[in-house]
Amino acid sequence: MKKKFYFGTNTKMYKTIKDTREFVSKLQDLTRDISRDDITLFVIPSYTTLKDANELKDENLLMIGAQNMGWEEQGQFTGEISPLMLQEIGTDLIMVGHSERRHVLGETDEQENKKVLCALNHNFTTLLCVGETEEQKEYGISEETIRIQLKKGLYGVTKEMVDKLWIAYEPVWAIGVNGKPATKEYAEQIHTVIRKTLIELFGEEAGEQIPVLYGGSVNKENAVPLSQMEHIDGLFIGRSAWQADNFNDIIRDILKI
Ligand code: PGA
Repeated sequence: MKKKFYFGTNTKMYKTIKDTREFVSKLQDLTRDISRDDITLFVIPSYTTLKDANELKDENLLMIGAQNMGWEEQGQFTGEISPLMLQEIGTDLIMVGHSERRHVLGETDEQENKKVLCALNHNFTTLLCVGETEEQKEYGISEETIRIQLKKGLYGVTKEMVDKLWIAYEPVWAIGVNGKPATKEYAEQIHTVIRKTLIELFGEEAGEQIPVLYGGSVNKENAVPLSQMEHIDGLFIGRSAWQADNFNDIIRDILKI
């Protein structure tokens, strides 16, 4: 394996507290022998399961993240969960701007930006997701779209703040049951654009160290080839990671090379 590799899963609106507890325990057990010098492993389960998942996690093995976060500490924001509430239960990471938040729930780059700033200011690892739609790809504006999402989503973030910033590239057309995975060449092309944009925003040193993960129909077949691309630092996996055995298999396949 070339360098430390990132592996994570977002369990979306699928696992109950019981399911999440079983999943987290099994995943930790199965991967316990793998050195965390080689991998960073994270799980992003539903809100109601976060307290249990945080209590169950072994901090040396696993990070637990929230799927969303309100951008104020408190206030008149019915239905939102604040950074203080997520800190209180020991959450490590906040995911911002997942494609389903943007395209099903209507979130904007301006909102993602407020969440990114708030999450970084509260010392969370902050995973900003970006990705173009099928239509934007057809128009040939994938790279422009990604650059806009990065420049707006990271507006006001300084190079001193990026220690805990991660990016996930998840093309909207590649995600979920109707998605088709990006080819490794296409993913690498966009990851290269992301890296250049991060360097443009934060300078060479800080811009180079931000992990950029690929997500969207990652499976047992394409995980290894994707992981071998120079600019892919990790995989952010949905369906293929929701059984701890499958997730463990993918991790080990990649570590073998
Ligand atoms: P998928 O989901 O792997 O099931 O396509 C990816 C994601 O939404 O992060």
